[in-house]
Amino acid sequence: MMQADYLVIGGGLAGLSFALRVAKSGSVIVLNKGRLPESATAYAQGGIASVWSPDDSFDAHVADTERAGAGLCRRETVDVVVREGPDRIRDLIAMGTQFSRGENGGRDYDLGMEGGHRHRRILHASDATGSEIMRALTAAVREEPNIQVLERHMAIDLITAGKLDPLSKDTDCWGAYVLDLDSNTVRTVSARATMLAAGGAGKVYLYTSNPDIASGDGIAMAYRAGAPIANMEFVQFHPTCLYHPQAKSFLISEALRGEGAVLKRPDGAPFMQAYHPDAELAPRDVVARAIDNEMKVRGFDYVLLDITHHDADFLRRRFPTIYERCLSFGIDITATPIPVVPAAHYCCGGVMTNLDGSTPVRRLYAGGEVTMTGLHGANRLASNSLLEAIVFATRAARHATELIAASPEPAPALPPWNPGRAVDSDESVVVTQNWDEIRRFMWNYVGIVRSNRRLARAHQRITALREEIRQYYWDFIVTGDLIELRNLATVAELIIASAIKRRESRGLHYNIDYPKTADVAADTILRRSEPFHLDGEFLASLRARRQPAAAD
Ligand code: FAD
Ligand code: SIN
Repeated sequence: MMQADYLVIGGGLAGLSFALRVAKSGSVIVLNKGRLPESATAYAQGGIASVWSPDDSFDAHVADTERAGAGLCRRETVDVVVREGPDRIRDLIAMGTQFSRGENGGRDYDLGMEGGHRHRRILHASDATGSEIMRALTAAVREEPNIQVLERHMAIDLITAGKLDPLSKDTDCWGAYVLDLDSNTVRTVSARATMLAAGGAGKVYLYTSNPDIASGDGIAMAYRAGAPIANMEFVQFHPTCLYHPQAKSFLISEALRGEGAVLKRPDGAPFMQAYHPDAELAPRDVVARAIDNEMKVRGFDYVLLDITHHDADFLRRRFPTIYERCLSFGIDITATPIPVVPAAHYCCGGVMTNLDGSTPVRRLYAGGEVTMTGLHGANRLASNSLLEAIVFATRAARHATELIAASPEPAPALPPWNPGRAVDSDESVVVTQNWDEIRRFMWNYVGIVRSNRRLARAHQRITALREEIRQYYWDFIVTGDLIELRNLATVAELIIASAIKRRESRGLHYNIDYPKTADVAADTILRRSEPFHLDGEFLASLRARRQPAAAD
């Protein structure tokens, strides 16, 4: 049993920013299932978008965000994030983050360009922005006496009032059950406010830019705790990940296209002008679908990203990480185009929050990629997620501090973890088999281009697998792998259900059976208390239609 005023689940940008703020008013436990700074944040390359240049404006950043979001952004959220952005960047700088300066190393920061932005507004630290931010944040957290970081501790489930008393009408969250991955014991951590900052869910797909930690634990835990989960069908596929047999999940930043890199077929012919007037700088969904189409229709294994027109010294200075990593695979980006393919990158959906980062589960806050705040709508504008994470972590910290000050009563006594009659598993192969199967059918059936038949197949597979995993989960003693598998299956189910519920194509969700965009934009919301079932219209569409032969 452990106790703190605040429990933070996740040690990326959202979690650590929240922890540093609330530590001024109480004790904090930060859980991280890996070791700091391991997180998606640490891999961010392009940078963090914010209005910084006098040529830019809040209105322009709002307009670009909404244009990418395809009619589904929440206006008040976009306004808040864009307008508070510059102050939050100043906070990062004050904490020691060193963003790259302009060409002559002057006072001004260098501003990068990425797809969907009409202005240069991406602050960056060369092409390793996330690693620099995490360096500064981790150092600040290590120096804060009120923060205790528990590395290799994985949250299993949130403890809500219903777990204390099944008849209770309260929804309060009082902490979490946590697996210590080194001793394999489960601890009960009690807190008066909990911040869910467990990141995204890219690992639900076979090919992803995300690190291994991105198994959707936060979204799955919040769903089990009764929080509404929205817009899970909007999975962003990054157009350009390195295509090489030994390169696991290595991103080639959009900032290369911002500096003029051109997408080409393997024979050297450029193709993006045929898809969008902004060509390589079109929003990400357009670029990813164009590449997918080129690969499927013409049978390519990859396409090429060519930036060789730039001066070699500039490329080595501006993109040192990408230059070195590609060179380690025998690709000199100053002389040779880079083979690239799309991969699952970012989850626009997640736990619904209010403008103060709170959720309908009292005392439960959420921030970062785990959330659906309304900023991204149907498609995230490049480099807006780091900004969203820090703006909402700050807002959530303010609200949580006020909540705790206003209700100083201690947390109730929490029941210890009950392992039931579970025994050690002698068949871990079940976990790896199911894990691989989910990631493969999500890639094949719920990928960049979807159809009702593929979604129906995915639904059938996930329903069977969820039951198998449910039984396995209760029969065997929990392990980190089993917890992640259970969460991955829940997230896959939420993505499939949301994709089936959306009867249109919009932003990142493209279904060949509903190619048009509806006149009215609406969120897809799922709650545990309202189980999803296939409806009559969807089932009838499966019987009525044959798959259009060459459409994908
Ligand atoms: P994370 O940084 O992923 O942190 C989540 C933390 O939660 C991790 O520490 C993890 O270990 C922990 N955790 C997860 N589950 C549990 C559990 N059960 N128990 C305990 N701890 C847990 N966005 C931009 O805006 N600009 C970019 O340039 C950019 N580049 C990117 C490049 C790559 C390769 C990737 C993968 C993403 C990029 N993104 C970028 C997206 C951005 O990095 C993420 O959306 C953002 O960092 C998410 O921050 P977070 O704090 O929500 O989550
Ligand atoms: C990139 O550098 O291309 C990633 C930017 C982002 O995901 O926002």
